Amino acid sequence: MTAQLFTPIQVGPLTMPNRIVVAPMCQYSANDGVMTDWHLVHLTGVATASPGMVVIEATGVERIGRISHGCLGMYSDASMRAMADVIRYAKVVAPAVTFGVQLGHAGRKGSSPLPGQGAGQISPDHGGWQVVGPSPIPYDNGWQTPQELDDSGIERIIAAFRDAAVRSVNAGVDSIELHLAHGYLLQSFVSPLSNKRTDRWGGDLKGRMAFPLAVVRAVQSVIPAHIAFGARINGTDWHEEGLTADDAVAQAHILKDAGLHFICVSSGGATPHAKVVAGPKYQVPIATRVKNEVGIPTRTVGLISDPLVAEAIIADGEADMVALGRAFLDDPRWPWRAADALGVPGVYPIQYERGSSKLWSMRAK
Ligand SMILES: Cc1cc2nc3c(=O)[nH]c(=O)nc-3n(C[C@H](O)[C@H](O)[C@H](O)COP(=O)(O)O)c2cc1C
Repeated sequence: MTAQLFTPIQVGPLTMPNRIVVAPMCQYSANDGVMTDWHLVHLTGVATASPGMVVIEATGVERIGRISHGCLGMYSDASMRAMADVIRYAKVVAPAVTFGVQLGHAGRKGSSPLPGQGAGQISPDHGGWQVVGPSPIPYDNGWQTPQELDDSGIERIIAAFRDAAVRSVNAGVDSIELHLAHGYLLQSFVSPLSNKRTDRWGGDLKGRMAFPLAVVRAVQSVIPAHIAFGARINGTDWHEEGLTADDAVAQAHILKDAGLHFICVSSGGATPHAKVVAGPKYQVPIATRVKNEVGIPTRTVGLISDPLVAEAIIADGEADMVALGRAFLDDPRWPWRAADALGVPGVYPIQYERGSSKLWSMRAK
């Protein structure tokens, strides 16, 4: 029997050739939001072993929506053209691979330093920018107090998501996912830890979802029918006053009813005071709840690197897709290792076939 990890899956209008997804991972290597040669090499590299999908890192829909000065942004046509080039090259090496982009806004966690350049946040007078959020509550001690978004600010950002979606489609993505996790702007509206508003953008879960839902509708109004559209949500904030797994299920219901095609279940990042209990597969049980209770194609992620574990997650119906982050940084050819481990033939392109372990008996095991 074919390994379930290598079976195709229908995600809304999109057929993915297998269930393996490269998780979105910031590369801090962009130039004013525009991909550089680093992205070309990195993304074609992880695409080469033909995962079902490569999700391009968190991409800010406006300049102050980036996490750092090195993060991608989709607020310019230059960014659209650079992404189009990268996708075109990647599909030369891996014609079946699909590309998603994670559109987001960093909100109160923006203006962060690049890795290795300190912790916390850069203030506007030191080359950063004024951050925005649902309520004037800093993410942590010493961080900026975000400017509370008013209606016109919210409308501006909704329009920015719409415009970024148009550019992403023109760049050739197959899928768009909203970054509705990890404490960034959309999730900071959903989490009661950061949204204390009493207007129509706050209150109960439905009220706190109003802004993300307005973004969903704006994006839907411009993307063509062949684009898969989903979201990465927080399965839990890992904090007694934050979002819980029950909230994740409720959110997924709302997003499915709004017409989204898939959900990725991650967690954390909403507060520095989270009590995260991490371990292998630690986020899988919440994904399983979303899959079973909501009935939407569901992706899990987090501390999964063993092909046999990934296969069992799919075969046992715990999730529909498995995303891997650091395992792909460690080994961009992870799908080939998984195919070897699971006895799946035919995953190498013809140019690389002689590298297959089956044909190369001297290969060190
Ligand atoms: C270098 C790096 C950058 C990341 N950037 C993003 C990002 O842009 N968007 C996001 O939702 N998660 C991001 N993450 C989280 C990953 O997508 C993933 O959820 C997390 O690393 C857990 O999966 P893993 O254990 O397979 O690495 C990042 C993780 C790493 C290691």
